Amino acid sequence: MELLEVLRRRRSVRRFKPLPIPEEDLEKLLFALQRAPTDASAQLYSVLRVRDRALRDAVARLSGDQEHIRQAAEFFLLLADVHRLERLLEHRGQKMAAWPRTALHFAILDAGLAGAYLALTAEALGYGVCFIGGVLDGVEALVDLLGLPPGVLPVAGLAVGVPDEEGPPRPRLPRALVVHEDRYRPYAEEDLEEAYRAMAPYSRVGDWNRVLRLYFAEGGRMEKREAPYGRALSRQGFDPDLPRGAGFYSLGGLIGEALEEARGVLFRKGEAWLEREGEAFRGEGRPGEALLTALRKARGEVPDWP
Ligand SMILES: Cc1cc2nc3c(=O)[nH]c(=O)nc-3n(C[C@H](O)[C@H](O)[C@H](O)COP(=O)(O)O)c2cc1C
Repeated sequence: MELLEVLRRRRSVRRFKPLPIPEEDLEKLLFALQRAPTDASAQLYSVLRVRDRALRDAVARLSGDQEHIRQAAEFFLLLADVHRLERLLEHRGQKMAAWPRTALHFAILDAGLAGAYLALTAEALGYGVCFIGGVLDGVEALVDLLGLPPGVLPVAGLAVGVPDEEGPPRPRLPRALVVHEDRYRPYAEEDLEEAYRAMAPYSRVGDWNRVLRLYFAEGGRMEKREAPYGRALSRQGFDPDLPRGAGFYSLGGLIGEALEEARGVLFRKGEAWLEREGEAFRGEGRPGEALLTALRKARGEVPDWP
């Protein structure tokens, strides 16, 4: 099918026929994945093809129990991956620089682009696809389940299979609200009303705000994802203030937790002290690292100490 026609007709598919994807098509999908452009040739992504049925079931459970993850012929987990790059540098005797935020930026983009190329190719071949951001619901358990090393982080899943549903393409915002010219144009109240009008068919009851509220307003799904995602980021080495493996949402989160257990926290250059009644625990290094050690000492988690 012609590319523009694929784009005109495409919609996410959430019901699949119990049919496999033949090897030659799978080959095309993985070829497309790897043809995506990538910053500085680095290919800061990996894809994990979840084949084992029990594992697929576990991934589905950790991803909001979405049945289409189980049903789809194939399920790919798109991963931001700077682990391979670090290994490549090490292999030539070089140490990777500290660039956790920029690494995350480009690795997520690389994973997204590669996934989009695969997805579009699948749709052009007549398959249905659905991206799965729900993988962030149980992201910490997913890291354990799939044995993801530091430097590797789930970005999204991608379910691909033979579609068992049809329907019209879903609406999009008016172009003028998305495409700015020369300067960013501020949104007027009428623009926002127009946005809700255009997107109304997205919701069964004709109210797009219900969807936005469910995900993005206070108490919504994204808010629930935030803390586990932050902990996974620091655990996987993408937090500039915390050492790899820390598993705290942020340095602020660590300070907050330390203060729950102590009278006070004192930072000095190269060290942090955690004070309790009658005892104090010292850690060394940058603030996050030092405080984490002090807290672990206070909790008795540091072997050979005191
Ligand atoms: C990053 C990302 C995450 C998504 N996560 C999910 C998901 O967890 N479950 C799901 O059923 N659809 C998911 N979707 C599909 C979107 O809901 C869908 O693309 C959007 O509603 C627009 O509909 P359309 O793709 O049919 O045009 C996701 C899409 C993207 C790009």
